[in-house]
Amino acid sequence: MDMKKLAGDKAAEYVKDGMVLGLGTGSTAYHMVNAVGELVKNGMKLKAIPTSKATEAQAKELGIPLLTIDEVDHIDLAIDGVDEIDPQFNAIKGGGGALYREKVVATLADQVMWIMDESKLVDKIGAFHLPVEIAQYGSKQAMKQMEDYGFHPVLRVKDGKTFVTDNGNYIADLHLGAGFDIDDVYGKLTGMLGVLEHGLFLNMCKRIIVGCSSGEVKVIENSGK
Ligand code: A5P
Repeated sequence: MDMKKLAGDKAAEYVKDGMVLGLGTGSTAYHMVNAVGELVKNGMKLKAIPTSKATEAQAKELGIPLLTIDEVDHIDLAIDGVDEIDPQFNAIKGGGGALYREKVVATLADQVMWIMDESKLVDKIGAFHLPVEIAQYGSKQAMKQMEDYGFHPVLRVKDGKTFVTDNGNYIADLHLGAGFDIDDVYGKLTGMLGVLEHGLFLNMCKRIIVGCSSGEVKVIENSGK
């Protein structure tokens, strides 16, 4: 049972003719992008904004008409994956390093929907590392500041090299532990010198779609949105 595919396929049911869509990034979003590609193939007229170069390449391959973020005047629906989410819809995103574009698209979208397998549902977020996108210039200073705050930052490395985002920046992964003080960390990271964006997405989504090992797909609405 591919729980990520269950969620990704279900998400496509919310995509309607004429929409401007935000296309997320990651292994769950991958299935959703395929499902959206199928809708386009079957004649649906829509346009999409990808949140990473990887998603852009996949969408192009599928023939999904794309727009850049600066070409749109609105986004109807953003669909994306998530790393961890608590019952108050506080989430950590950016495991794949696409958090900046994901946050821009989610912030501008009329509606945000997240898709996931059931392992992403947690009581308290923080067991998963919190990704923070930092400028290369002065990155050691930014790391030191986060260390001084007790955030336990680790510079992300991929294939033996420092990971560089689609925007040309580094990622610091913070090891905070489940149950960390969300408002405190959010406040300290927001506007910190050298920080472009962080992966705390607080109460941004309207709905989550969860693929379960039983084969069930749960749709949970956020009544606070
Ligand atoms: C990409 O940067 C992330 O925000 C992903 O959306 C998140 O990491 C979920 O990825 P998976 O669907 O691959 O678990």
